[in-house]
Amino acid sequence: SKGTYDTFMLKEIDEQPAVMRKISSHYFDGKKINVDQKMLKDVADADRLYIVAAGTSYHAALVGKDIFENLADVPVDVELASEFGYHMPKLSKKPFFIFLSQSGETADSRQVLVKVNELGFHSLTMTNVPNSTLSREATYTMELLAGPEIAVASTKAYTANIAVEAVLAKAMGELKGVKAAQDLDLQGQLALAANAIQTIVDEKDKFKKIADDYLKGKNDAFYIGRGIDFALSLEAALKLKEISYIHSEGFAAGELKHGTISLIEKDTPVFAYINDGVGAAHTRGNIQEVAARGAHVLVIASKQYAEKGDQVIIPEINEMISPIVSVVPAQLIAYYASLARGNNVDQPRNLAKSVTVE
Ligand code: M6R
Repeated sequence: SKGTYDTFMLKEIDEQPAVMRKISSHYFDGKKINVDQKMLKDVADADRLYIVAAGTSYHAALVGKDIFENLADVPVDVELASEFGYHMPKLSKKPFFIFLSQSGETADSRQVLVKVNELGFHSLTMTNVPNSTLSREATYTMELLAGPEIAVASTKAYTANIAVEAVLAKAMGELKGVKAAQDLDLQGQLALAANAIQTIVDEKDKFKKIADDYLKGKNDAFYIGRGIDFALSLEAALKLKEISYIHSEGFAAGELKHGTISLIEKDTPVFAYINDGVGAAHTRGNIQEVAARGAHVLVIASKQYAEKGDQVIIPEINEMISPIVSVVPAQLIAYYASLARGNNVDQPRNLAKSVTVE
């Protein structure tokens, strides 16, 4: 039930700190990581991971690529389920497939899994619904533990999925003796993430005001960022478009000058993410370029990279998993933009919670 909330979406946004704590206590036993050891050996033996998903889960996969490549020292391909099944590339010698699906029922993902099973490869489904089709048909399952997600716009499943990817990547990296995995205090980071999300959701009025100031009467908006912030921008833009119906795009900040910047005019809303240290200075340059063309820019920056005048500051957290925290302002901005337009936040037009057709 919605309890005291008017919408499931806001309730689910607010549940994210508790979800982070639950993932941490479920998957860790002291310093020991609680995952199926047979699965762990199987996946750690792969020469390449193929992560297959749709929509928000695809965006969680893009974040996961960075996490697995760094912590588990394995190359990762991220694939859109609707494309991959019918245009399968030449696979590596020892592939392992990871399906990300909140519902576990997405038909696009399932048709890939059917092919993977026919080919005799092993797979893991990370899902919020343990007895779902994708869970039953994959070799292994890891639960997202986010609790039922009812709003069509996925929020807590995205953040849970990134956390669970990090758990598996750390376990793989420890098994393989990867220093980055040994050095990462993931429990500590998940605790920091929970606290950081809490400070953001405690400031709802701020995000309501941002939605009003930046998006009232607007038809287009852009999220930009580099590296981890590019993956995050895609999710932030999807959240905004699916419930507010404002046309929004996520762009790699460096790509703007290759075409998209022609769309920037006076007062075009541009939300810029600066959590990725390597890209930070260049993204600052891109911010100046769009501002010079009249864009109404909002900067969402991690504390360690923040500059005077940045509107939203994200508490410091490990960069690889920072989207767990920095997505939350975008969830709230989308929520309030949708509410202001009188839309049905939980059940946006033309969409269903689980997409069971290809
Ligand atoms: O249940 P799944 O994670 O497989 O669903 C995939 C997408 O349909 C889903 O993430 C969709 O994009 C959401 N409405 C996004 O908020």
